[in-house]
Amino acid sequence: MYYSIHFFLLILLLLITRFFYIHLFSNGRRHVKLPPGPKGWPVIGALHLLGDKPNQSLAAIAKKYGPLMHLRLGTIDMVVASNPAMARTFLKTLDGDFLDRPYTTAARITYDAHDMVFGEYGPKWKLMRKLTSLHILGAKALEHGATVRQEEVGVLVRAIRDAATVNVPEILSCTLANIISRLVFSWRMIQAGDEGPASRFKDLVNEAVALSSQFNIGDFIPSIAWMNPQGVEGEMKKTHRKFDQMMDEMIQLHVNAAGDREGKPDFLDILMADGGDSGYPSPLSSNNIKGLLLDLFIAGTDTSSSTIEWALAELMSDPALLGRAREELDRVIGPDRRLCESDLANLPYLRAICKEVFRKHPATPLIPRVAAKDCHVDGYDIPRGTRR
Ligand code: HEM
Repeated sequence: MYYSIHFFLLILLLLITRFFYIHLFSNGRRHVKLPPGPKGWPVIGALHLLGDKPNQSLAAIAKKYGPLMHLRLGTIDMVVASNPAMARTFLKTLDGDFLDRPYTTAARITYDAHDMVFGEYGPKWKLMRKLTSLHILGAKALEHGATVRQEEVGVLVRAIRDAATVNVPEILSCTLANIISRLVFSWRMIQAGDEGPASRFKDLVNEAVALSSQFNIGDFIPSIAWMNPQGVEGEMKKTHRKFDQMMDEMIQLHVNAAGDREGKPDFLDILMADGGDSGYPSPLSSNNIKGLLLDLFIAGTDTSSSTIEWALAELMSDPALLGRAREELDRVIGPDRRLCESDLANLPYLRAICKEVFRKHPATPLIPRVAAKDCHVDGYDIPRGTRR
C-alpha cells in the first residue's frame, strides 16, 4: 500500500510537470506548426526512444509519423527526414541554412571546434572546406588520389596473401591511415609491426572515435552539461592533449622533410601556406590545421574500415549473397587481374551490396547540423536552432 501511494504520487508529479512543460515552456511556440512526432517526456523528451541503434529506431518511428518528423531529444529540437525527397530538401534545397553543427562535447577533442567538422560557419571554415574539397574529397581530388589508393590496396592484398592469420580491423585501419597520410604528409604513417609514433597515432584515433561516439546526456540537455555528469569531458581533454602532442611531432617531421617535396606540395604544405591565392581574408591558425588533419584521420579511417568489416560480415553470413557477388566478379574482372576503381561502373551487384551496408550499418553516430534561421518545409515550421 505504502509503495502504491508513492508510485501514484510519482505519476501525478510527472503528469503535472508534463502539463507545465507543454503549456508554459512551449508558450513562445504557440503559433509554430512543428512536424508530427512523438511527444516524449519532460526533460528527457524522446531520448528514451532512440535505443542503441538510433537509425533503426528512427526508421520505425517514421513509419508512424511520416517522412518529416519532429522529436524533442532532451531539451533539443530535432527534425528527421526519412525518404529520398525529404532528404533532398534538407541536403540540397536547405543545405545553406544548415551549415553549423551544434557544439557538443566531442568538439573538445578536435581543438574545441576550431576544426572543420565542428567549426562554426565563417571565413576560416569556408577556407578549410574549399581546400579539403579541392585537394582531398572533391571529384578531381579523388581522381588524383586514385594511384595512391590503388597502390595501398596492392600492399593490403599482398599482406593478406602472405599472412597466416589476418587481423581485419587492424589491417584495414593501416591501409586507410596510410592512404590519408600519403595525401596529407607525403609518407606512409604505419608500417607492418610498427611500434613508433605512427602506431600510437592509430590507437589514439581509435580512442577518439570511441569517446566521440559515446552518448553524452549534456549534449541533449545543455543546461546540465557544465556538471559533466558522465565524466566524458576530462577523458576527451586527455585524448586531445595526447593527440596534440603527436600532431606537433608529425608537423615537425614534415617541416624537417620539406626538401624532399620541392615543387610537389602536399595537403599540409597547402594548408600551411594559408590557402595561397584563395582570396579568403582569414589565414588558418595552427589549431585549425591540426583540427582539420584530425578530422580527416578520424572521419576517414574508422568510417571506411568499419563499413568494410560489416560488408565482409554480411557476405560471410549469407552464402547466396557471397556466391552472387563472386559470380559477378568472376564474370566482369576474371582471374588474371585485380579489380580497379573504374570497374565499379560494371559491378551493379557489388555496388548494391555497398549501399545496403551503408543503410544497415551507418558508420557515423548522429552528427547533425543546426538551422541558422527559421525554415519552412511542407507546410511545417522548423525553428532556428533545430537540429537535422
Ligand atoms: C564509409 C565511409 C564514410 C562514411 C559513411 C562517411 C560519412 C560521413 C557523414 C554522414 C558525414 C556528415 C555529412 C554532413 O553532415 O554533411 C561526413 C562528413 C565528413 N567526412 Fe565522411 N564518411 C566516410 C568516409 C570519409 C573519408 C574517407 C574521409 C576523408 C578522407 C571523410 C571525411 C569527412 C569530413 C572531413 C567530413 C566533414 C565535412 C563537413 O563537415 O563539411 N569521410 N562523413
